[in-house]
Amino acid sequence: MRAMSLPSDHPLLLRIVDDLATHGWSQQDIFLPASLTLALAAECRNRAAEGELAPAAVGRGATQEVREGIRGDHIQWLEPGQSACSDEYLELMDSLRVALNRGLYLGLEDFECHFALYPPGAFYRKHLDRFRDDDRRTVSAVIYLNQDWLPEHGGQLRMSLKNGEEHDVQPVGGCLVVFLSGDIPHEVLPANRERLSVTGWFRRRGNEPF
Ligand code: OGA
Ligand code: MN
Repeated sequence: MRAMSLPSDHPLLLRIVDDLATHGWSQQDIFLPASLTLALAAECRNRAAEGELAPAAVGRGATQEVREGIRGDHIQWLEPGQSACSDEYLELMDSLRVALNRGLYLGLEDFECHFALYPPGAFYRKHLDRFRDDDRRTVSAVIYLNQDWLPEHGGQLRMSLKNGEEHDVQPVGGCLVVFLSGDIPHEVLPANRERLSVTGWFRRRGNEPF
């Protein structure tokens, strides 16, 4: 697969920066090349088949626990060097990080991300992507990996926008949604088929003492 970084002034990235500045969120229906979407979906399914995905926990540190009544997805964190396609994805997200810093002076320093698989019926109740005791997560980015997704399959990402409206995103393969982690409460509605994604967070430097 070819190298996947984009210049930070690429029109696609500038559009995302502009949307975030004006609305606090952005949806790009055609973000990932189809070949990369397919490769990531296969990788996510392989990891699931090998038993590498684990039920996602809620909270942080000592208070972390699995609560399927809050979120029912299974996840595995991505690290550099695990596969060609996950490295392509990480490179692309680093281009977005640089564009966000150039355009919005966010000072985003790193990116953490995981594959997520929602079995049929699983959901994630309304939440904010920011922990009470750790405000480093600044921008959330979700990419969907599902072929032939139809509205009747469910599984929408429902965002509660600043203007009081709700916006639903269909988890269609190749689509990217980006939003300010501390500003936009959101939930994942249950689906009647398996739902795959890769979800990540751009983080600022923390304030904790050295
Ligand atoms: C999350 C989340 C949204 C989605 O993992 O925090 O809100 O659409 N995911 O998968
Ligand atoms: Mn979330």
